[in-house]
Amino acid sequence: MLAPPEIIVVDDAQAMARLAGRRVRRSAAIALSARGTWRIALAGGNTPRPLYQELAESSAAADRIDWARTALYFGDERTVPPDHKDSNYRMVRETLLSRIVIPAASVHRMEGEAEDLDAAAARYAGALGDAPLDLAILGMGADGHTASLFPGTTALGERQRRCVAVQVPQLSTSRLTLTYPVFEAAREVFFLIAGEDKAVTLKAAIEGPDQPDRIPCQAIFRRKGPVAIFCDRGAAAELSTISRPPS
Ligand code: 6PG
Repeated sequence: MLAPPEIIVVDDAQAMARLAGRRVRRSAAIALSARGTWRIALAGGNTPRPLYQELAESSAAADRIDWARTALYFGDERTVPPDHKDSNYRMVRETLLSRIVIPAASVHRMEGEAEDLDAAAARYAGALGDAPLDLAILGMGADGHTASLFPGTTALGERQRRCVAVQVPQLSTSRLTLTYPVFEAAREVFFLIAGEDKAVTLKAAIEGPDQPDRIPCQAIFRRKGPVAIFCDRGAAAELSTISRPPS
């Protein structure tokens, strides 16, 4: 039987950043001591902003992440240039990259501005390589999407390519996204989920029957490896059982 995801309910965004930050730094420490490198993929959207700021600001030497030995990837990207207000890269640059010292070659941004998105996805898969991610940080939309794996889209069936361009008809746009095999193989996956508009979907994803085509994050919640879901009280409002953060 699969282990259920670990659910950590927090009071506010700062508590989420603090608790998730502690776990992110632990992932880095374990990977760096075991393999000498830390491979992480970051989520876009708004919920992880305080976490990224927290990671940039953590000052105690023992807690500091060795960014020089980090390979930083993105779970998905919107089809806009990197300085666009909707760019996930821009959000991560503002909250994290501009505040830390990290070699430019270690930051792997998806080319959301590319004319040929399929070629950009193939280049990204090449940069990602075949090694598993040590940690994938993901979010969840109220419709159950995660990264840019949206309900009913072709990306959900992709088992070969590790990064694809996908049409998202419900948003009348395209996106670049990593695919299920990457998130299934990651050593750890953390979800950061906030807002009461997500409560019904989160309950269905965790407690309901399998329906990953309608609730794409569910396939990752139910993967074989460990999954931790950090959520605020709004997102957790419909859950039957919740766990409390360590004091
Ligand atoms: C993106 C994402 C996406 C995000 C969810 C949740 O590019 O938008 O990476 O999957 O994580 O939409 O976003 P919020 O945290 O802003 O609700």
